[in-house]
Amino acid sequence: MGLYDSLQDETISEYKQIYGREPEFLIQAPGRVNLIGEHTDYNDGFVFPLAIERCTMIAASRRSGKTGQVWASLFGESAELAVSGPIDPKDSHGWSAYVQGAIACMLEEGVEAPGFDAVIRANVPLGGGLSSSASLEVATATLMEAMSGTTIDPVKKALACQKAEHVFVGMPCGIMDQFISALGRRDHALFLDCRDYSTRHVPLADPNIVVLITNSNVKHELTGSEYPERRASCEKAAALLGVAKLRDVSSDMLQASRDVLLAGGSDLLYRRARHVVEEDTRTQRTADALVNSDWTTAGQLMYASHESMKNDFEISCPEIDALVDIAQSIGLDGGVLGSRMTGGGFGGCTVSLVRLEALDDVISKMTRDYKERTGIEATAFATRAADGAGVLRLP
Ligand code: GLA
Repeated sequence: MGLYDSLQDETISEYKQIYGREPEFLIQAPGRVNLIGEHTDYNDGFVFPLAIERCTMIAASRRSGKTGQVWASLFGESAELAVSGPIDPKDSHGWSAYVQGAIACMLEEGVEAPGFDAVIRANVPLGGGLSSSASLEVATATLMEAMSGTTIDPVKKALACQKAEHVFVGMPCGIMDQFISALGRRDHALFLDCRDYSTRHVPLADPNIVVLITNSNVKHELTGSEYPERRASCEKAAALLGVAKLRDVSSDMLQASRDVLLAGGSDLLYRRARHVVEEDTRTQRTADALVNSDWTTAGQLMYASHESMKNDFEISCPEIDALVDIAQSIGLDGGVLGSRMTGGGFGGCTVSLVRLEALDDVISKMTRDYKERTGIEATAFATRAADGAGVLRLP
């Protein structure tokens, strides 16, 4: 059985049902989980994600005409999209904005698509902080490459998808999600310097350790304004400290300039900056720890990252805190090495490093205790690090 067999079968059979023929192309682009390095990417800092064994899949064929006809089974909706310019971002909404945006931004990179019809399916949980959006954008961009027979540098592809999200969706995200979906490598986590895009693929293939993703099944991002607000606070703090980005601030410098960030009796900007500055250090240390198979240190850094997200950056929520707390109470003796919230925040998932032999017990305890504490069913799955986007079928 290949990794994506059942999703692949479903996508192809749905395509055949709708369009009455075999698809010429089959594309996959994975979601991601971030081991550590949260809200650091747009500060030119460091992140350490891996691609997960959940993806967005697109089955498609070329056809005459100048539009893309796309059926998104998850939403039970179809959309007709432009494949040539000019493409106005205001003309597409909801899920189709991600697809239209990726098409438009790849066009700007010189990747032209013919008319096509397509079916999109995914098994990345939506709104769970596992980058379902980036996987949809990167899958679309990869389809464009396959249909046009032109591939571009994957870093440029990731940047085009990030631009799509900024311009077509209005979400001022960093580069992490699109980058890992495009450049993930099986059995490796990716240490990325978000300033110069230099990378280190760090092996994550110890057969005794698994990455456990636990979905709190809550999403508190009620207004959607929290992410842009955090980003704006970081930019303001950097400006007050006289640097381009918080990446340029060391711990010592932050301590020495503390007063500059204490405006009107509030320490908010100081705490926001402290999270980013210390998270950058923790992320570098975690990558080094993993190189040395020092799981205990990596786990401690994950807990410290969670505390910082909770208290300084204030992007956690009670349900997620409960999950991390339960994981921590299981502890090293029970097979949990470390745990923290992953992704943009305000709900979604935690990521934990767990000893394989304890996995079943850890999942049962986490879901049972979580239900007891919150009344909510959590969903959990283990994943290995997967490859980035790829073409599974060509004509
Ligand atoms: C979202 C964004 C990323 C990153 C994370 C937080 O997933 O898309 O760019 O900022 O939040 O680390």
